Amino acid sequence: MNIAVFASGNGSNFNSILNFFKAHTEVNVSLFVTNKINCGAVEIARKNNVEIFHYSKFAFPGIDIHEYPLRLISFLKEKKISLIALAGYMKIIEPIIVENFRDKILNVHPALLPAFGGKGMYGENVQVAVLESGVKVSGITVHFVNENYDEGEIIFQKSFDVDSYDNVETLSQKVKQFEHEYYPYVIEQVALGNIVNNNGKVFLKNKKHFN
Ligand code: GRF
Repeated sequence: MNIAVFASGNGSNFNSILNFFKAHTEVNVSLFVTNKINCGAVEIARKNNVEIFHYSKFAFPGIDIHEYPLRLISFLKEKKISLIALAGYMKIIEPIIVENFRDKILNVHPALLPAFGGKGMYGENVQVAVLESGVKVSGITVHFVNENYDEGEIIFQKSFDVDSYDNVETLSQKVKQFEHEYYPYVIEQVALGNIVNNNGKVFLKNKKHFN
């Protein structure tokens, strides 16, 4: 099956996803979508010969804005994309895209949702908020993407301690390490149908996959 990764940043998660699926027999990372054609993740796509789709007004001159998501949807369908993994994608996923790929879009968030999510909660802002709150545990969350920002059903979480010496940088490192280690695996499990969203209840067909 074909999956697409959407990213707008450095692409360290994109890189770990590509490495994980490099020799995979069932899942192929065949498309990269970005709204920022100069971001680091684009370089990673080029280096790995992954097809790039530039999703931005600059790529659609003279075309009505409402037409953009429809173009993306038809391209994803033409390329037979069955699953989308967001990896630092800094653009809203339009409701019509969610509708067309219901339970087929995943995101990774750098904290334990539902805390530290929502508008403005991205990048370092999240880690600043985590430190300011005084929580002693933080982590990562992988969730389905629905129409509401950071509110889709939670699929997977992994926590780590927030230690007294932690700062934004060390917390970001802990987050990245966990994301690189677990996100590709969660993507794989969803792709293989081992994780199911049944009317808002996410369950693992076989819990041993996550032990
Ligand atoms: C990740 O930390 C993820 O939690 C968030 O965006 C960041 C992307 O980082 N959604 P990178 O570009 O993969 O390094």
